[in-house]
Amino acid sequence: TAEKLEKLTRKKLNGHALPDREVAFKPAAAKTPENGSRAATKPAQGKKVVNFPETPQGNQINGVATEPTTKKAASKALLRSKKEELQAQREALPCYEARDNITAAIMANQTTIIVGETGSGKTTQIPQFLYEAGLTKNGIIAITQPRRVAAISIAKRVSEEMGTRLGDKVGYSIRFDDTTAPSTKIKYMTDGMLLRELLSDTKLEKYSVIILDEAHERTLRTDILFGMVKGIQKERKDLKIIVMSATLNAERFSQYFDGAEILYVAGRQFPVRAFAPGAQLEDYVDAALVTTFQLHQEEPKGDFLVFLTGQEEIDNLQKLIEEQARDLPPKCPKLLVCPIYAKLPTDQQTRVFNPAPPGTRKVILATNVAETSITISGIRYVIDTGVSKVRSFNAKTGMESLTVQPISKASAQQRSGRAGREAPGFCYRLYTQAAYEGLSEETEPEIMRCNLASVVLMLKASGVDDVLGFDYMDKPSRTSIVRALEQLYALGALNDEGGLSELGQQMAELPLDPVYSKVLLQSVKYKCTKEVLTVIAMLSVDLIFFSPNDKREQAGQAKKRFMNYDGDHLTLLNVFSSFQTVHGDAAWCAENFISARSLKQVQDIRRQLVSFTSRQGIDTTVSCGTDNLEAVLKCFLSGCFQNVAMRTPDGSYKTLVGNQAVYIHPSSVLFLKKPDAVVYNELMHTTKQYMRNISIIQPQWLLDVAPQYYGRAAARTTG
Ligand code: CDP
Ligand code: MG
Repeated sequence: TAEKLEKLTRKKLNGHALPDREVAFKPAAAKTPENGSRAATKPAQGKKVVNFPETPQGNQINGVATEPTTKKAASKALLRSKKEELQAQREALPCYEARDNITAAIMANQTTIIVGETGSGKTTQIPQFLYEAGLTKNGIIAITQPRRVAAISIAKRVSEEMGTRLGDKVGYSIRFDDTTAPSTKIKYMTDGMLLRELLSDTKLEKYSVIILDEAHERTLRTDILFGMVKGIQKERKDLKIIVMSATLNAERFSQYFDGAEILYVAGRQFPVRAFAPGAQLEDYVDAALVTTFQLHQEEPKGDFLVFLTGQEEIDNLQKLIEEQARDLPPKCPKLLVCPIYAKLPTDQQTRVFNPAPPGTRKVILATNVAETSITISGIRYVIDTGVSKVRSFNAKTGMESLTVQPISKASAQQRSGRAGREAPGFCYRLYTQAAYEGLSEETEPEIMRCNLASVVLMLKASGVDDVLGFDYMDKPSRTSIVRALEQLYALGALNDEGGLSELGQQMAELPLDPVYSKVLLQSVKYKCTKEVLTVIAMLSVDLIFFSPNDKREQAGQAKKRFMNYDGDHLTLLNVFSSFQTVHGDAAWCAENFISARSLKQVQDIRRQLVSFTSRQGIDTTVSCGTDNLEAVLKCFLSGCFQNVAMRTPDGSYKTLVGNQAVYIHPSSVLFLKKPDAVVYNELMHTTKQYMRNISIIQPQWLLDVAPQYYGRAAARTTG
């Protein structure tokens, strides 16, 4: 066996430029003798080694280890026409076996909850069953997806299975791209699109069935849809609602939908063994690269699925893998890299579903879309970076942005599950077991994570007038909803009747706290959109300047270079312009005690903001120039007019609203200057109430920017 082991150990790569580092998997050969190939490999000399001991919970997908069953279709599928092959594939799916039960349950109930392992055929098959059962005689079947890429690829697949052209009987509808026709009966769409349709078709009359898919993800839009369709169904008894989820905890959905029946589609999940490194890895993209090559040379055939956070990372890793693959030994199988993410052109998206050519291993580099939304066959090995890009709420500016965050345990288990769909599989987590233990159990519903004023704004924009009485699946507190309403009214997003104003409508389209949405929209009037975009992006990042204990003096001096005497907003603007001028040079950042990482983040956030803003037809390049920066301050005041403080004779400040004592934070460039009137970005309570990010204003500006709200108060104070 020693000899056997030797053979199975990873091939030496002398003479090749391949890995100079490696992640050494420390496997459990003793525990599972049938997996002899996973025997411990001795790290080659001088290599950086990270251990990957096996982790206990890998084979418990959803806490349920199901018995492997043999694959029926595989052996028979040879030499058949494409149509027959597709049909055979359909018939091999667990949902297909449960076809009669599923159809009968849906026909008998107004609302049905369906739970089934990812890949069991929920999304592709169930709409077809209902079509065949005649449910499209009086309307269309809508299937919502949180992700565009899933809507597209699944619609394409289903139209193939049904032998029709995409855009005929089966189509998809996503923002800026609608392939449906009057003949369309099965319509895959993003949850955002269905919300949009609700505005013009409040009873969703077109549809006979609404399938809310990927319900376990609890996106904000799906959550709002739950309440909307539930309400519609009260008036439209003929409307069928189906909620589909890939995780087992479906009671929540059932309770919400008045005890709707839950159907469990028996899964076909093979055990998956999970491995984790012994110590924290530095850079997960690099670790994914090293792990890919290592596994490729050590492991028998089976495709790889690597979870990453977004396009940039995926493109990067693809390049790196393709470069290094040229140095693989000639005898080693080839690697075929297939990326999948939202913005990938549609024709390339379908490449991931094609089987790898003989003698080739497919490496799929995917975003979270491959976690439960789409299934790709052939995967035996999952490489999980443990992170994903999610919409998150920045309490500082109320800005919602996409940030890279650790996933939940439920997600980690879903990801590992992708390796065990056709045979026992392996999951390599690029984070330690301790890190895994520290993950939250489940992903928190997005509605609980985002700014409430913007949730309320979105509900209003979706046609919900009574936001307090709305039937939330998870309800935010009453006081916080009322506060959000008051704030929206003050900002002019709501009219006197509590309905959405035109400004409010525009604000609803931006992923910002309504205060900053307003600032951004007002920047058109003040002709300073370019500057305002930068300042908002800068404000949404935590730490711009750093000040090491032993270099306080130098750091202070460095900061002075960017100082603008009108305050912090324009100082931040200077920092970003300088950073752009030097093209983000790291040495420059270090010299100036500026965090390069934060500034990169600012660039990224700014890019996202630019794309949202320009989609509203706003020219994001309009600039006030350097001589008219006052416009930027007025513009901020037009949104932050409730955050104004005036100096008192003793040098402290009183807020104009509420007459609270507040102080200038020592980090502000205005700390020593103590101007008469200031606008601040936020209050921070430590020993006192400190105002942070402060700029000088002229009190009479308040009359311009918020005449109804502030006219009298401002006049009195300056009077
Ligand atoms: O929704 P669920 O996760 O239950 O499964 P599905 O998306 O309906 O996928 C069922 C099967 O269709 C998968 O096993 C895939 O192999 C196949 N499929 C495909 O080959 N190509 C697609 N674009 C979508 C699905
Ligand atoms: Mg699905």
